[in-house]
Amino acid sequence: MSFKEKIDPERLPQHIAIIMDGNGRWAQQRGQLRVYGHEQGVTAVREAAEGAAEIGVPFLTLYAFSTENWNRPKEEVDALMGLLVETIDKEIPTLMDNGIRLNTIGDIESLGEDCRLQLRRAMERTSTNTRMVLTLALSYSARWEITRAAQRLAGDIAQGKVAPEGIDQDLFSSYLETSGIPDPELLIRTSGEYRLSNFLLWQMAYTELCFIPKLWPDFTRDDLYKAIVDFQCRERRFGKISGQLSI
Ligand code: IPE
Ligand code: IPE
Ligand code: MG
Repeated sequence: MSFKEKIDPERLPQHIAIIMDGNGRWAQQRGQLRVYGHEQGVTAVREAAEGAAEIGVPFLTLYAFSTENWNRPKEEVDALMGLLVETIDKEIPTLMDNGIRLNTIGDIESLGEDCRLQLRRAMERTSTNTRMVLTLALSYSARWEITRAAQRLAGDIAQGKVAPEGIDQDLFSSYLETSGIPDPELLIRTSGEYRLSNFLLWQMAYTELCFIPKLWPDFTRDDLYKAIVDFQCRERRFGKISGQLSI
């Protein structure tokens, strides 16, 4: 039985987040420059997006570039940005064929003009697709997001639009980049690193974590399905005890 067949379609994670890690090591293992790994990583992005859409996962979020990644050597940052521009444009037909709507989170204003233009274009083109929302986290970090949310909320309080007593978790969430998107139920990180690297820290309070040793360019839809099967075998208690869950 394949992993796909083992998935219970009634209990699919509604939102899967992925930290796509290991491109550089993948390339270096092959005696190539790191950027070659990023190029090959695009195939894995397609596998994940098509694989998730195919089985009916409504939300997929991919960590593509972190706030901290700006600190990499300039040549690598430039190559990544170039690859992003090229890929977004090329992948529009894949997005259309699979009914995928493109979305972004992160400090999009910090990206180059070219990049912003392509993203805007792809988001407009795919805006009526309804099968899955694919969110790219670009120039994103959770602490940046939470700090910005606090700034905007403080601004609204200063203007009298929000009363401090009116702040609750739902209101605060609505100031985050992910407003309108449910919290991820499953996080996958490739490359064998066991950390969150500043990704969706607020949203992942109760996310199931799945760390896999493969490097990102080797990731296939079967790996995605295997992670979903693993997710479905777990008991999510949310602070309760086992006996309370079936009630
Ligand atoms: C993930 O692969 C892609 C980005 C962070 C943009 P890395 O580039 O981090 O590859 P490793 O972890 O150095 O192997
Ligand atoms: C996390 O990977 C960011 C992305 C996948 C975009 P990194 O490779 O930047 O994370 P660290 O530095 O190893 O924690
Ligand atoms: Mg890495």
